Amino acid sequence: MTEPLFFGLFGRDSLTSSLACAVNAELGGIEFRRFPDGESYLRYLTSPENRSIVIVCCLNRPDDKILPLLLAAETARKLGAKSVGLVCPYLPYMRQDKQFKDGEVVSAPLFANLLSSAFDWLVTIDPHLHRIDTLSDIYAIPTQVLHAAPLLAEWVQDTCKQPLIIGPDAESDQWVALVARLADAPYVVLEKIRYGDRKVKVALSDISQWRSYTPIILDDIISTAHTMIETAYQLKNSNENAPICVAVHGIFADQAYQQLLATGVAKIVTCNTIHHESNMIDVTGLLAAGVREFLPS
Ligand code: R5P
Repeated sequence: MTEPLFFGLFGRDSLTSSLACAVNAELGGIEFRRFPDGESYLRYLTSPENRSIVIVCCLNRPDDKILPLLLAAETARKLGAKSVGLVCPYLPYMRQDKQFKDGEVVSAPLFANLLSSAFDWLVTIDPHLHRIDTLSDIYAIPTQVLHAAPLLAEWVQDTCKQPLIIGPDAESDQWVALVARLADAPYVVLEKIRYGDRKVKVALSDISQWRSYTPIILDDIISTAHTMIETAYQLKNSNENAPICVAVHGIFADQAYQQLLATGVAKIVTCNTIHHESNMIDVTGLLAAGVREFLPS
């Protein structure tokens, strides 16, 4: 039996190669470049014919990547691939899951339709499930949702003295409670009101009993970082230690990373679901376990 064939769509990034290695797959080559007018050029350098193909593609900045990704999936089929799976460590377009104003596009299910039409299966880590209960509510293909909480808890336990886990909003309760339990640490969940893309207000509850603890602000995503910035600001007068910010996916839009560092937080830590200098938690093993479910045995 031939081993599965992995492609990293936008360059041979280290996560694609470590993942291919972890599941004993071959790492294939694909050329990707932009024509001068911005259109995408793709060429398979390793033939997908009669192979189980896995494309690894982190879809932060998704609008730049989705079209080349769909072109690559469709072409793999045309070239004779037996199956085409997608490993998407960060799955975008999960937050616009409801129409808040007349005429608004509800992008989550539409984006799900695009990926479902192109791939046979999907593996991802902690998609932002809020008003949507499970991925299968919007994805028509088999999906495997993995959770980084055990890895986050391990990092917290190994690295932080007397951690107090802080969830910035009600949505974070799901992963904050689990990480706190696994790390054997106390936790609180705050109340957040969002007024706009870059304007949030966070109300801090009474945490005076943990004044000497290390606050760990934990969230699934850091995008503009305003949720973390506002939480760090609120913590200034109520805790003796500078907070550590921990997130699964560090998107860091524009100057978000620098702005968050400038608030005086002790450290910013993310998983390598999106390549960034804050990556300190490796998800290769987690992804490998999820991918194995879909590979021929
Ligand atoms: C949404 O509620 C998420 O859990 C995050 O809190 C949010 O995406 C963070 O966004 P930002 O960094 O832009 O405040």
